[in-house]
Amino acid sequence: MPLVTSKEMFKKAYEGGYAIGAFNVNNLEIIQGITEAAAEVRAPLILQVSAGARKYAKHVYLMKLIEAAEIDTGLPICVHLDHGEDFEICKSCIDGGFTSVMIDGSKHSFEENVRLTLEVVKYAHDRGVVVEGELGKLAGIEDAINVSAEDASFTRPEEVEEFVSRTGVDSLAIAIGTSHGAYKFKPGQKPRLRFDILEEVSKRLPNFPIVLHGASSVVPEFVEIINANGGEMPDAIGIPEEMLREAARGAVCKINIDSDLRLGMTAGIREHMKKNPSHFDPRQYLAPGRANIKSLVKNKLINVLGCDGKAE
Ligand code: G3H
Ligand code: 13P
Ligand code: ZN
Repeated sequence: MPLVTSKEMFKKAYEGGYAIGAFNVNNLEIIQGITEAAAEVRAPLILQVSAGARKYAKHVYLMKLIEAAEIDTGLPICVHLDHGEDFEICKSCIDGGFTSVMIDGSKHSFEENVRLTLEVVKYAHDRGVVVEGELGKLAGIEDAINVSAEDASFTRPEEVEEFVSRTGVDSLAIAIGTSHGAYKFKPGQKPRLRFDILEEVSKRLPNFPIVLHGASSVVPEFVEIINANGGEMPDAIGIPEEMLREAARGAVCKINIDSDLRLGMTAGIREHMKKNPSHFDPRQYLAPGRANIKSLVKNKLINVLGCDGKAE
């Protein structure tokens, strides 16, 4: 099966009350860990690439690795640009074979966000590529952009219909209290998401796929392993799995996960190196990182997203 867009995936996910996992990829081991897990449970996948990932690994390497994963597993895989910040990067990814792009105009005014998103949608749709837009600002760190909690803002439901109808986007990322990175809530703070906003948005946009960024649960076992093996991570709190399950049952069709993959990889490497300080063959310490990613992703696909068995 060639690489696919997320159109069919989202339609089925919306109707079936589950979500597709969108996992950030940066190298061979991350791609293998994710796709081996998905192949074992027959789950459709979105593999997403940030501007930082393209800079680190180069577009062509990631593209070829993802194509290899598709050949190896036979799964429906959508390759997506995560947080495209301007028309140029979206164009470059579309021209370079991606089947989906995100244009993240959330830092701009509503009017500028509409203008920019529409420009990308026109280019993408002419070439059979789908587009994710964003309304509302998430806190946290993505690439060089650090949005402070004060600058973050929830999505305003009264804006979503106009944004979607004027731009023609295929899916919409909204801000309901998730954030990027490993420190989503302050120590002692109870995780809370604005499900009322999600509900209002989905009423205004019937049958329309909603995207949740910043959705790592910040798996406590991995943080413990990192800290037991020389790491120094302060208290890290993520999104409880039950909240993600609730979102997936509703209009949320795409759930973005990166930080949990980073924690799994780091925990595997740290644990291995602490036990085997003389090892210097990268395969010896990358393999446990890859294995952690595989077990993490398998758990997400089955127990959080509910998309196991949905690849046809
Ligand atoms: O939303 C951001 C993702 O976690 C990607 O992070 O820009 O550091 O690759 P990155
Ligand atoms: P996390 O940092 O919670 O994994 O979010 C990743 C993300 O939203 C990528 O776009
Ligand atoms: Zn994001």
